[in-house]
Amino acid sequence: MKLILLGPPGAGKGTQAQFISEKYGVPQVSTGDMLRAAIRAGSELGLKVKDIMESGALVSDELIIALVKERIQQPDCANGFLLDGFPRTIPQAQALMDAGVSIDFVIEISVDDEQIVSRLSGRRVHEGSGRVYHIEHNPPATPDMDDITGEPLIQRKDDREDTIRNRLSVYHSQTEPLVKFYNDLADSGEQSPIFKSIDGLGLLDEVKSRIVCALG
Ligand code: AP5
Ligand code: MG
Repeated sequence: MKLILLGPPGAGKGTQAQFISEKYGVPQVSTGDMLRAAIRAGSELGLKVKDIMESGALVSDELIIALVKERIQQPDCANGFLLDGFPRTIPQAQALMDAGVSIDFVIEISVDDEQIVSRLSGRRVHEGSGRVYHIEHNPPATPDMDDITGEPLIQRKDDREDTIRNRLSVYHSQTEPLVKFYNDLADSGEQSPIFKSIDGLGLLDEVKSRIVCALG
């Protein structure tokens, strides 16, 4: 299964990706996690993207497309993958099509802007794996510690309110047009992905059930 999770920052893409990835046995390919790993490693890519990510702007299409193309050629992606945070511009979506990658499902998780600000300000993450928590809605078993490794959780640098607002405006101008792009594609013919939009509000398990239902 090849699947794209679309949605604004804080919609729950990473949270739901963890579960989908396990249930359907496909790896989660999160461009955000890959870029943050490059920053931690101090690689050339990491140095290029650090300031851009901290400001909430998008990294160039060229860099991201190369990164994803390389990643989905790895053996663990042979039976499918879940794209979390890619594509997020029309040229990125077009590049995926031009590369002959046929996607089965595009799931849009929709959540309004004010809910997003509250979700992201309470988010905590495990840096090494990208595992996501929320101090109220999805707390770890021990406060501020990762459930699996017991290591401390951190707050992402782009989860400050002014940066969150900037990310939301980037989403509306550059990524939201993909909803129409995939809707039109789904209406256009046989080889196209199934497009489903689901409500991202509600308990984690409720959102999870809506996704399972959409993947039918
Ligand atoms: P990225 O890491 O992809 O960030 P994002 O899209 O802004 O999305 P988030 O990870 O913030 O949100 P999410 O939807 O995964 O939500 P989560 O599950 O964590 O990208 C970061 C940056 O990298 C970009 O700004 C850009 O610079 C660069 N980049 C990445 N990809 C790129 C690309 N393709 N092109 C160019 N640049 C790119 O949930 C959020 C919080 O809500 C958590 O605390 C969670 O516990 C909580 N939560 C989840 N579900 C619920 C629920 N149902 N109810 C209550 N709380 C919930
Ligand atoms: Mg995420």
